[in-house]
Amino acid sequence: MYDVPFVPSPEVVIRRMLQLADVRENEVVYDLGCGDGRVLIIAAKEFGARAVGIEIRRDLYEQCLKRIRDLGLEDRVKVYHGNFFEYDLSDADVVTLYLLTSVNERLRPKLERELRPGTRVVSHDFEVPGWRPIIIEDLYEEWRSHKLYLYKVPGAEIPIPSDVDVPLEALSDLEKRVLKYIDGSTSIEDIARKLGTTLRTVREIVEKLRKMGAVKEVKVVKGTP
Ligand SMILES: C[S@@+](CC[C@H](N)C(=O)[O-])C[C@H]1O[C@@H](n2cnc3c(N)ncnc32)[C@H](O)[C@@H]1O
Repeated sequence: MYDVPFVPSPEVVIRRMLQLADVRENEVVYDLGCGDGRVLIIAAKEFGARAVGIEIRRDLYEQCLKRIRDLGLEDRVKVYHGNFFEYDLSDADVVTLYLLTSVNERLRPKLERELRPGTRVVSHDFEVPGWRPIIIEDLYEEWRSHKLYLYKVPGAEIPIPSDVDVPLEALSDLEKRVLKYIDGSTSIEDIARKLGTTLRTVREIVEKLRKMGAVKEVKVVKGTP
């Protein structure tokens, strides 16, 4: 009935997956088929992420909810009971998978459609057919070796400035610095790198500037990992 049986990832493997994906504070991590919630819990507790899990098995979903409540993580972790093929993933900064190659293959068009440039996908043991990993790593754990595949959605989001001048006193220091870099050719990823912050933070600031009229639009160019 289910696409994949429940086999939990060992904690050491999860930590390495999240390290490889370079999960930063407040980034949003989706675990597709979240089982008992262990990826979500480590992402929230140890990496300061906001985590979202989708689990098709009701018993596991309930177990997951209970663990999250017991740990007081409800404000950082959300869990849905359902089929991950039916959920919008566009908000993700990082997606973790421990499924099967055949399921990854079916998932691939959805990931390509919905994930934004710069999103990292890290898969335990099973590759995403047709994608080129930027890292493949073997991790030796107690009784077996695990393969980890890291992918990154290529492309760029380029904020286009408008002629509207916004009152600088209405902006924070970081917002002013982002605005300074917006020139019609610098991408959100470049700005994030220059400012040492996350894509998410820069995207949120660009969206605020768009609402204030300082940014005309954000051009998105996407590729296949
Ligand atoms: C191999 S386990 C991995 C659990 C967890 N991600 C981890 O790494 O510990 C795969 C999980 O995906 C769930 N699953 C399989 N197909 C699913 C689907 N279409 N939608 C949501 N969950 C699914 C299974 O019930 C199972 O709990």
